[in-house]
Amino acid sequence: MTQLIDGKAISAQIKEELKERVATMKERGVEVTLAVIQVGNDPASSVYVGNKKKACAYIGIHSLAYELAEETSEEELLKLIDELNEKKDVNGILVQLPLPKHINEEKILDRIHPLKDVDGFHPQNVGSLCIGRKGFVSCTPAGIIQLLKRSGISVEGKECVVIGRSNIVGKPMALLLLQENGTVTVAHSKTRNLKEVTRRADILVVAVGKPKMITAEYVKEGAVVIDVGIHRNEQNKLCGDVDFDDVAPKCSAITPVPGGVGPMTIAMLMNNCVESVALQK
Ligand code: GUN
Repeated sequence: MTQLIDGKAISAQIKEELKERVATMKERGVEVTLAVIQVGNDPASSVYVGNKKKACAYIGIHSLAYELAEETSEEELLKLIDELNEKKDVNGILVQLPLPKHINEEKILDRIHPLKDVDGFHPQNVGSLCIGRKGFVSCTPAGIIQLLKRSGISVEGKECVVIGRSNIVGKPMALLLLQENGTVTVAHSKTRNLKEVTRRADILVVAVGKPKMITAEYVKEGAVVIDVGIHRNEQNKLCGDVDFDDVAPKCSAITPVPGGVGPMTIAMLMNNCVESVALQK
């Protein structure tokens, strides 16, 4: 029987644990505050930001919402980040991506203080992850490690293949699997004989951004398959980068879409907000 990795249940469990931790911190007079900045009103971003605010409210984290006009200048945004960096009662700062084209994303992300960078996008946090030091880790790959751990799947000594090399998912995912003592390969759009590479995987993490691209012929019998993709098909139904119906019978465990990796991202963001208090001490 294929094990269905239930991201909805695991993220709910993490949120419960965080809620308890935040309540205990409150008893000791410690509050947690996250500042969320959105520039413009991209509908998808508005949904993500809304979900982040809801999760904060549920756990007991204060959220400060900065909804800035599309025309906001880079200088104005940098000034707001500087102010939030200085504020002792703001623990986390999150700038929702993508930003309007006239704003240099790199410059903005570099300006967030590394100890408030709950997205884990600042070069200092990425560097810390690379050399195994403390710091914030990008939420989606951190969530995938939690999915594996809480589903009783060990990484040590396993052949791990990550398809995708983005800064937000693929690269930090590879580093985290390496930290868990996996043998890690990163495949990407220029990889030759992709199927041969992916068929070696005991654990296959798919972040290619193409609906249902990964079919059974990419997967070894008994592999664990983690699907990071989320797309809407012609019938307005959600699907992942993995052709679930084709691949699931061949796996030992697989994440569904929706209800797999997706809910973990916000849970790990909440975790980073709670951790930020200790990191800042
Ligand atoms: N846009 C899409 N995903 C993310 C994310 O994880 N963090 C931020 N800040 N923006 C995003």
